[in-house]
Amino acid sequence: MPHASAPGKIILFGEHAVVYGRPALAVPVTQVHADVIIADSPRAETWIHAPDISLHAELSSLPSNHPIAAVIHNFFFAFGVSPFPSLDISIASTIPVASGLGSGAAVTVALLRALSSAVHRPLSDEQINQFAYEIEKLHHGTPSGIDNTVITYARPVYFIRPLPSPLGGGAGGGVETFTVGSPFTLVIADTGISAPTKESVGDVRKLWESDKPRWERAFDEIGGVVQNAKERIENGDWRLLGALMDSNHALLQSLTVSSPELDRLVESAREAGALGAKLSGGGRGGNMIALVEKDDAAQVAEALLSAGAKRTIVTEIA
Ligand code: PMV
Repeated sequence: MPHASAPGKIILFGEHAVVYGRPALAVPVTQVHADVIIADSPRAETWIHAPDISLHAELSSLPSNHPIAAVIHNFFFAFGVSPFPSLDISIASTIPVASGLGSGAAVTVALLRALSSAVHRPLSDEQINQFAYEIEKLHHGTPSGIDNTVITYARPVYFIRPLPSPLGGGAGGGVETFTVGSPFTLVIADTGISAPTKESVGDVRKLWESDKPRWERAFDEIGGVVQNAKERIENGDWRLLGALMDSNHALLQSLTVSSPELDRLVESAREAGALGAKLSGGGRGGNMIALVEKDDAAQVAEALLSAGAKRTIVTEIA
C-alpha cells in the first residue's frame, strides 16, 4: 500500500517581501506532518477520506477546483492515467490548518508522492515541486512558491521567487538548500486564530500599490535582514539571529500583517528570555516563532501558553 508523508514548515525570515522577489528562509518542521495512504478501492470509483476535515467523498462529487480533487485530476491528466483507477485515498494531518505551517502544501506533496507510487509513475522532486506550486495558486492567489519548495525538499531553503519571464516559465530566482552551522532551538506558538494568507497577501498588495517606492524600500530592508540571517546561520552564529527576528517583526508590523495577539506573544516570549521573536507566515493570526537557548525552551513555551497561545511546538533546526 503506497504511503507518503510530508513535514510542516515554518518561515524563519522574509515572508511577504518574498512575494516581491526578495529572498526568504524557511525550514521543515518534522514534529507535524501530513500522511497519505492509498489502497485499491473495493468500489468502482476513487474515494477520498480526510477525517480531519470531515471529508468522505467520491472524487467525481468534488468540484474540480477543490484542492484535493485538483491534485488528483492534475496528476491523472498530466500522466495520461486513463481510465481513472479506483483508489481509496486516506489523508491525515497533524499540521494545524491556515496557521503558517504549510498544511495545504504538505497534503499536496504527500498526495502526489503516494499517487505516483500507486500508479507507478515516478516523479522527481522538481516535478513534485512544480505540481505542488500549481495547486498552491488555488489556495493563495499569488503564492511565492516557498511552501511547496521547503516541504518538497524537506531541507532548510533559501528561496527567491522566480520572476515571470516574457517567454513563459520563471526567470532568475531559485531555491538553494543551506547549511545550519550549529543547531538552534525555536519555540513555535499558535495564536489559534485562523487567518487566510490570501487576505494578508492581498492587503500588502494594496499597500504596495498605494506607494510603491516606500514599500519597495521596506522589502529591501527585509531582504537585507534575510541575507544577514543566512550568513549567521551558516556560520553557526545563531544567537545573533535574535535581533534580526526583532527587526523583521517590526518591518512586518509596518506592513500591517501583525495583530494584537501576535504582538502579545512576541512580547511575552522576549520577556521570558527568548533571544528574539517574530510572527511567521502570512500573519494576522497563525504562528509566531521565538529563538531560545535550548534550556529556556520550556519556560518560554510556558510563558507563551500563559499569554494566550493555543499550542506550542519546540523544534530544533539542524
Ligand atoms: O502563511 P504561510 O506560512 O503559508 O506563508 C505565507 C508566506 C507569504 O510570504 C506571506 C506568502 C507567500 O506566498 O510566500
